[in-house]
Amino acid sequence: MIFHVVISWIILTFAGSKVYSLESPKLNKLSIPELLSIESRARLLCVASSGDQPIEFNWLKDGKTFSSGRIEQLDEWTSALTIYPLSLDHIGNYTCVASNDAGTSRVTSSLFVTAPPHWVVEPYDIRVQTGQRALLHCEARGSPEVKITWRRLTDSESILPLPSDSQVHENGSLSIFNAQKSKSGLYMCEANNGIGNGLKRNAVLTVFEYPVVERLVDHVTVERGQVAHLSCLATGDKPLYFSWMKNRRFLDETPEIADRSNFSELPTAQHIQFTLSISSTELEDEGLYTCIAKNDFASDQKDIRLMLVERPQPPRYVELVDIWSRSARIKWTAPNNGNSPILSYIVEYWSNPGGHWNETVSSSLTSCILRSLKPFATYNFHVWASNDIGDSEPSEQSQFTTAKEEPSAPPVDFKLEELGSSFVRISWKPPPHEDWNGNLKGYYVGYKQSVSKSPFTYNTVEAEDEHIYYVLRGLRRGTRYLINVRSFNDVGSGPSTEEIPVQTLNQEPPPQPILVIKDIGSTYLQLHWILSEHSRLNTAGFSIHYRRNGEKWHEISIPDSSQTSYTLTNLDSVVPYQVYVTSIGSSGISEPSEIATVRTSAEAIFHNTQSKNPGVQPAVDDVTQILYIVVPVAVATVIIVIVIVAACVYVYSKRPLPPSHPYGDLPASKNFSYMSTVPRQRDIPITVCGGNAMKYGSPYSTVPLTRPEPDDDEPIYESVMDEIRFKISQRPYEDDIKIGTATIV
Ligand SMILES: *[C@@H]1O[C@H](CO)[C@@H](O)[C@H](O)[C@H]1NC(C)=O
Ligand SMILES: *[C@@H]1O[C@H](CO)[C@@H](O)[C@H](O)[C@H]1NC(C)=O
Ligand SMILES: *[C@@H]1O[C@H](CO)[C@@H](O)[C@H](O)[C@H]1NC(C)=O
Repeated sequence: MIFHVVISWIILTFAGSKVYSLESPKLNKLSIPELLSIESRARLLCVASSGDQPIEFNWLKDGKTFSSGRIEQLDEWTSALTIYPLSLDHIGNYTCVASNDAGTSRVTSSLFVTAPPHWVVEPYDIRVQTGQRALLHCEARGSPEVKITWRRLTDSESILPLPSDSQVHENGSLSIFNAQKSKSGLYMCEANNGIGNGLKRNAVLTVFEYPVVERLVDHVTVERGQVAHLSCLATGDKPLYFSWMKNRRFLDETPEIADRSNFSELPTAQHIQFTLSISSTELEDEGLYTCIAKNDFASDQKDIRLMLVERPQPPRYVELVDIWSRSARIKWTAPNNGNSPILSYIVEYWSNPGGHWNETVSSSLTSCILRSLKPFATYNFHVWASNDIGDSEPSEQSQFTTAKEEPSAPPVDFKLEELGSSFVRISWKPPPHEDWNGNLKGYYVGYKQSVSKSPFTYNTVEAEDEHIYYVLRGLRRGTRYLINVRSFNDVGSGPSTEEIPVQTLNQEPPPQPILVIKDIGSTYLQLHWILSEHSRLNTAGFSIHYRRNGEKWHEISIPDSSQTSYTLTNLDSVVPYQVYVTSIGSSGISEPSEIATVRTSAEAIFHNTQSKNPGVQPAVDDVTQILYIVVPVAVATVIIVIVIVAACVYVYSKRPLPPSHPYGDLPASKNFSYMSTVPRQRDIPITVCGGNAMKYGSPYSTVPLTRPEPDDDEPIYESVMDEIRFKISQRPYEDDIKIGTATIV
């Protein structure tokens, strides 16, 4: 019931208000002038065309209460909004709201303001490093929206296309992504929106280049003492300034280098090469060098390391380790290599005469065997080391002599000189010197009967001459022999010559004279020879053979068997001469006498006292000055056992006259034999015959001899005292040998 009453009241109430109707305002279209420009004045009029009063007007901009303009109520139907001065902020939708008790109405309209462009960010000049992005700004505001256009101009302001890598951003900025010198120049920004004449502004883009330094190499290696060139290449805007540091200190602060350094610049199309040259480099110059290039914008630098190398030092402790007859081993210690590895060693060795050789040794070795050397030859050698830079100085020179070997060649010019019934005289020359392989000690003269199967028997002959004459005595008559010669040294004997076959004469030889030196002067020798009375019958004459030691033999023929003395004249003083005599008979020539070696005196010291003052001996002092030597005798033994015997014969000054019997010094035993490899020396008394004449001493040595089989025993001796031989020659042949074996002294 109550519910119905309420509903009815509400209905009545509303129905009643409609009936007494109030009208809400009705608004005309909002009038806004068009083409308003900035700074001008705008008046917006809001006019209600109907509606109950009172009507209240309000203004909204973009839906929000607007109060910055002047709002005037012109009359009860009209409201005016005046905005002055207009700015771009005033652009928007303006709404006029009219309300009365009956309701609210609103109209909206837009207000637009035009403005010519004006700068927000004006273009300005910029400098950019090559390769960077160049950003040229240009921002302008205006209404409607300002359009920004970039152009590139030549210096004469004609238009060029923009670089291909450029972009104009929305905010008007121009980016050139890869700035290069070629893109630098004048750029123009134009701002336009159709209002006014628009804006224009130029900006200069400068693309600059920092210095950039490159090095040719990061290590420079130079031979010490030479000039070191350190070079860098620089690019960058000119002017460029160059400087150098060593170990981070400027060169001006290191005078020890500054004095020796020199700077140069070499411009090319792309860059400038700048060089530091240091002359007479020292080890202290090694280090880290820095090349620096600088321009107005920046600087750049690079490091270069300098290393000094040099030729190696000479090898050290060079020494001979082993030595043989044909090779030698040397060793050394590796030297300082001068900062560059040793590539090889070279051993240079030479002998004079001989040759000159280089032996290259790998650097991993420090020893070397020199081969193909000659025995008993003296070699010099030194060693040097080599690296990339060159050869070291050679080590100190050393010398060695290779070990000896037996002679390697036979004697030469071996020939028969003279043939008798019981002797042969032969001669030869030493083997070539390069085949001696040691000092020649002597020769073995080998001989045997050619029918015999037994080996050769050897006599020893000292090596004393360049041309050796030797008398092989005591041979059998009418017998064929083979003879050869070989030389020997400390080590052994060399090859033998070809055998010479000889056949001794089959006659009784003339008797052998005994040679006596009667006087020795400075330019003469007075000779005397003795033959037994009856043997003189078989003699037709004599031959005197003499020579200066080592030279050719001269022969003087004396066709008178009664002559028993001769004086050699025109001799040189204080020179050894060799003399012997042979007698000549119908059956040929005799065996030679002993060969006397006599030295002429400085002045004549023997006076012929026989006439004036017979029996007076010369002064002792004078006599002692006379020394002559008879060639020692050497004898061989039986079976190739060689006996070397040497001796000297001296003159005894105080020898009483008359002479002792020549046989007086014979050894007691006839079978005395001597075998030894040790040379033996003995003083031999000299016999003097008549007045002060002297008979020269004779050999002393002896000889082995006897062989077991009588058939084979051969006479093996030489230089037996002549008297003895004379005796011997009187004996039957068989005896001969036995006596011959027992020799002398
Ligand atoms: C003004 O009104 C127009 C049309 O109704 C609309 O397109 C525009 O966005 C409005 N402007 C503002 C600033 O609200
Ligand atoms: C314009 O825009 C670019 C790219 O976004 C920017 O690098 C530049 O700084 C802007 N310009 C200004 C003036 O802010
Ligand atoms: C050995 O080498 C040196 C130095 O290189 C040279 O002078 C000499 O001629 C060489 N000798 C020989 C025999 O090659």
